[in-house]
Amino acid sequence: MSDLYLRIVNTPVGKTAAQSLGLPAPVPLKRLKRTDQPFIEGDVLVGAAGGGKAIAAIGSTLSASAATLHHASGNERLKDSSKAGNKARPMDLNSEIDQKFSALVFDATGLKGPDDLRALYDFFHPTIKKLGGNARALVIGQNPATCRKAPQAAAQQALEGFVRSIGKEIGKKGSTANLLWMAPGAEQQLESSVRFFLSARSAYVSGQVVRVGKSDSAPATNPVAPLTGKVALVTGASRGIGAAIAETLARDGATVIGLDIPPAMEDLQRVTSAINGKALTCDITDEKAPTLIADFIDEHYGGVDLVIHNAGITRDKTLGNMPEHFWDMTIAVNLTAEELIDEELAKRELMKENGRIVCISSISGIAGNFGQTNYSTAKSGVIGYVEAMARQLKKGVTINAVAPGFIETQMTAAMPVTIREAGRRMNSLSQGGQPVDVAETIAWYCSPASSGVNGNVVRVCGQSLIGK
Ligand code: NAI
Repeated sequence: MSDLYLRIVNTPVGKTAAQSLGLPAPVPLKRLKRTDQPFIEGDVLVGAAGGGKAIAAIGSTLSASAATLHHASGNERLKDSSKAGNKARPMDLNSEIDQKFSALVFDATGLKGPDDLRALYDFFHPTIKKLGGNARALVIGQNPATCRKAPQAAAQQALEGFVRSIGKEIGKKGSTANLLWMAPGAEQQLESSVRFFLSARSAYVSGQVVRVGKSDSAPATNPVAPLTGKVALVTGASRGIGAAIAETLARDGATVIGLDIPPAMEDLQRVTSAINGKALTCDITDEKAPTLIADFIDEHYGGVDLVIHNAGITRDKTLGNMPEHFWDMTIAVNLTAEELIDEELAKRELMKENGRIVCISSISGIAGNFGQTNYSTAKSGVIGYVEAMARQLKKGVTINAVAPGFIETQMTAAMPVTIREAGRRMNSLSQGGQPVDVAETIAWYCSPASSGVNGNVVRVCGQSLIGK
């Protein structure tokens, strides 16, 4: 669906009118154009608070990029910034800065207590106004749950408020801010997340906190086709977000089984035949669906690497007016079916080693929504399921969730116009997301290099003003 307001406001007349009326002026987001595009270009400034453990890993990832790398200097609190490696040139933060940065990356893992938070100010205060449009701010901290001392946990938790606030300040330029909470010793697992959050792939992801844990392996991957040799199951693949997920995973090298209900067969086949995939029709709430899906996977591929539970429905009514079948159907499609499919695949050992499961929640599942008690309950349940499963899964299998905000699909096109316009504008980027924004986030979770990313719920919502 097209966003007419976004187009009008980016014409010279529209821009002037929006300014004089105090209306939001969303900046068109730059998304990935080619898979061999560098993940970041332009001038990137990195910095570290004293004792930062991630700065060398950040420096090495960025040294291999197309960016011109600088490290902060001229400030005693930031002296560990020089550990970014030889390719980073010092930039004195006390002098006039001429560059426009495409990204600011800060290693805050060394913060030991509230006094150390001053390093954030020292790094970002002189540089934040130098961020260009569609730019990135990325902070790497230590997961507070792994901090033994309270002052350290406080300082690390404080990063969340800081990052979410700068996201709101830089969003009007189409820029994003995110936080990676690294577990001690997980430096090698950072790379795939640093690449994702600095790239055009994360254009609509802002204000998010991701936990990156230690894992046995974080294999080097082919950056152009990291999913080569992987088999993916995508439910609800005939249209909208599901079709974008199928296309994006296929673009990254995966062989895709697209699944949808029988009436969607024609659309589903259009999607799967364009990507050399296979189409499977069934209603995932059917009692026999888990067996049918497992049989299909077994017969054609002998196993599956990536399972994306995308199929979803809404049946909106206020609770007092809601017929019981609205409640039952919504819970069954959005929550129960996922558990039963995973259970069957696990029982028959069809989920391959280092596999990936991704579930789709929603900001309604985080914040609740008027007229959506059934949907919000199911989507909130998805989060509980993902968090519990992340602790149980073995053999390198990870499970994560995305929680889309307002995404331009047939589901949101069916909304009344006022609610649709409000949904589009009520986020830091003042626009709706595209199905591909959700798909790119899922592709990052699915990468073999994302082995340390487990049990997360990332909102793809342009930092919605609703919810956390
Ligand atoms: P959509 O309605 O365009 O597509 C959903 C697909 O799931 C359809 O192809 C449908 O036929 C399929 N499906 C529904 N019930 C099924 C069943 N019982 N068995 C097999 N397939 C079934 O929806 P959209 O917008 O693409 O959403 C995809 C996912 O993202 C859903 O889980 C939705 O709840 C979630 N979501 C979407 C948001 C948005 O703004 N569009 C916001 C938040 C979450």
